[in-house]
Order: sequence, then structure tokens, then C-alpha cells
Amino acid sequence: MEHKFSKRLLQVQASPTLALNAKANALKKQGKPILSFVVGEPDYDTPRVIVDALIDSVQKGRTRYGAAGGGAELRQAICAKLRRENHLAFSPEQVVVGIGAKEILFHLCLSLLNEGDEVVFLAPYWVSYGDQVVAAGGKPVVVPPPESGLDVTQQIAQLESYCTSRTKILILNSPNNPAGYCFDEAALRQIGEIAKRHDWWIISDEIYEYLSFEAPHLSLLNLFPELASRFILVNGFSKGFAMTGWRVGYAAAPLDVAQILRNVQSQSSTCLPGFIEDAACVAIEHGIGLMEKEIASLHRRRDLAYGLLQQIPGIQMEKPQGAFYIFIDMRSWLKMQSSKETSMELCARLLETFHLALVPGEAFGAPGFIRMSYAVSEADIVAGLERLKNALC
Ligand SMILES: Cc1ncc(COP(=O)(O)O)c(C=O)c1O
Repeated sequence: MEHKFSKRLLQVQASPTLALNAKANALKKQGKPILSFVVGEPDYDTPRVIVDALIDSVQKGRTRYGAAGGGAELRQAICAKLRRENHLAFSPEQVVVGIGAKEILFHLCLSLLNEGDEVVFLAPYWVSYGDQVVAAGGKPVVVPPPESGLDVTQQIAQLESYCTSRTKILILNSPNNPAGYCFDEAALRQIGEIAKRHDWWIISDEIYEYLSFEAPHLSLLNLFPELASRFILVNGFSKGFAMTGWRVGYAAAPLDVAQILRNVQSQSSTCLPGFIEDAACVAIEHGIGLMEKEIASLHRRRDLAYGLLQQIPGIQMEKPQGAFYIFIDMRSWLKMQSSKETSMELCARLLETFHLALVPGEAFGAPGFIRMSYAVSEADIVAGLERLKNALC
């Protein structure tokens, strides 16, 4: 047999954040006093009304196959949400519901890419974009972070120099994982003017929409309705409603894209379980109001973690405006050390020696940084950052 496995899929790596989380949990089980800042999920429970809706739906027997791409009721509820909260007009036929935003993004790569097509996005980026593109036969093209600081407008200004005639998709992610920035109107205008000059698909990953602390969330489509025929909005329930394990995500897309996505899903996961759809309807009908207390609590923890990090000499970071991560720039600190450690090696040492789990920037295409998730208790934030200070000073 010339090739035992798919050459394309052999290039796909396991998700580094999931792997690190598993390692931190295993060490915890062995009795090590691990403080973990790795998780990509809120630490609060799914609201009770959503859980009750699921139980009610199961008891009513909604346990059969559903429709590929999502049932009409949930797709209508998503359209109503997009109109009410985002001032965006999509029809239910343009909405496709999938097993998490992750499946939606993967199916988008399968649906839109041909061998060698290029997909461009800014670093730091969410861990799965690159591998999903590779799995679909495409080529990820990354705009690297600036040499100092993390000014996203500088990267946008360079965007076109990373594009070729093979560029097919631009992926945007705001609020951003891992950097915590949110595109403001000026940044979106800068991106929109570039996008208008090209024929790219724009995938806008807005999964952290509800976690935008400084200003209401804004989508590129709000400012550039003329891009609608090329624009695919991706969102999900994991982060905003604390429903990571429920696996609900969706795309709102041009009709032809929605149709292909539905076809692909009909040949893979088939559909979301009906009882989860019913619960998701209840979540989305309540909207952001359901999560006010939890969002305010994350906002407070952002301030706490950022304030404590500022007291550690030699490290830098931008104040995150959204999501629940702080992306710490260790580049100057690392340069000052005689050991010449990389951020990957530093994170391994922090875990082994200080029982502190943080994700190295290498996982996000930004060596020299480390990501801290502050969706943990305030006590853990204080204790963990005390440990970090001791480790670094
Ligand atoms: C930026 C971003 N996009 C998409 C996802 C996928 O979310 P899910 O599959 O849970 O809906 C995540 C999850 O961590 C993420 O951080």
C-alpha cells in the first residue's frame, strides 16, 4: 500500500488546547495542585430555563432524526435574533445549524475550497482554522503579529500583501480568541474597503459576540451590506450561553452556500438532536439578557486579571476588550533570559515546576506569547498570578 493514510489528514494536528487541558486534568488527578488557565469555556452553568427546555423536549419524545441544517423553528429564531440584536436580515433558508461552530467552520472549508486554494487570517488565530483548511485541501496563509505590540490595524494594512490570485477566503474573528481584541468601526471599515476590491468569501467568526465589554458588538456586514453575497456569519451558543458541551453553532450565509452546507451535513453528522434544538430556541429567544450577571462577572475578572498582570515586571499585554482571554506578550521577557527559552518551553516549565497551566502562543501562530483564560474563580486568578509572578521574577 503506497499511502496507508490520507496524506492530507496526516498533516492535521490534534487541537493543542484540548491536549493541554487533558494534560492539566491528568496531573490534577495525580494530586498535583494544578491551577489551570487553559479552558476555552465559561465556568458558569447553562441557565436553568435552557436545561428545563431540554428535559421537557426529551420527555415529549423529540428524540428522532431531525432536519439536516436545523429545524425551521430554530432557524426562524436565529433569524429573529439576527434582526433584533444585530440588525441583519437573513431568511431561515440562509441559516444552517451545526454541531458547534467548529463543525460549521469545517464544513465551510469542505464546501468552499479546492486543492491549493488559500485562506488568509491574522495571527494570533483560533487553533482550528489552519488545520481545518489543510484537511479540506487548502493552504492557510497567516498575517503574522507585528514585531512589537499587537496592533491589529497594522496587520490589516498588510493583509493584501499576503494575498495571491489563489486567495479564496478571509477569516475574521472578533471578539478575538486568543487576543481579546474587538474590531472597532475604523478597523472594520479598513477591512471592508479591502474586501470590496476582491472576490473573497468572508467568514466572520463572531462566537464571542456576547462577550464584548467596551462597546456593542459590530459585524462587518453592518457597515458593508454590499458584501452580503460573499459574507458568511458564524456564531454559536457555546460561549455566550455557557453551552460548550451542547454543541450548537450556526452559519448565516448566501443561499447557495447554505445549500451546500446542508448537503455536507446530511452526509456527515445528519442533524442536531431535536431536544437540543428546542433548548437552543429558548436560549436564543431570551437572548443576551439571560446572561447579564455572568457577563458582568467575566468583565470584573478581566479587570482583576489585567490589573494583577500589570504588576509583573517585564511582560506586556493589551487590555482585552472581549472574550475571556488575556494574551501576554512575553517576547521582551524571553529575550532577557540567558536560557533562551521559547514560550512553548516556558509553558512546559510553568506546568511542571509551578503547576500553572497556560497555553503557549505557538498554538495560535504567535510564538513569544502565552494565553491566559480568566474564566476561572477570582481566588484562582489571584493565586495563579501570584505563582506566575514568583516564576518570572
Ligand atoms: C474563535 C472560536 N471559534 C469557534 C469556536 C468553536 O466553538 P463551538 O464549536 O464550541 O461552537 C471556538 C471555540 O473555542 C472559538 O474559540
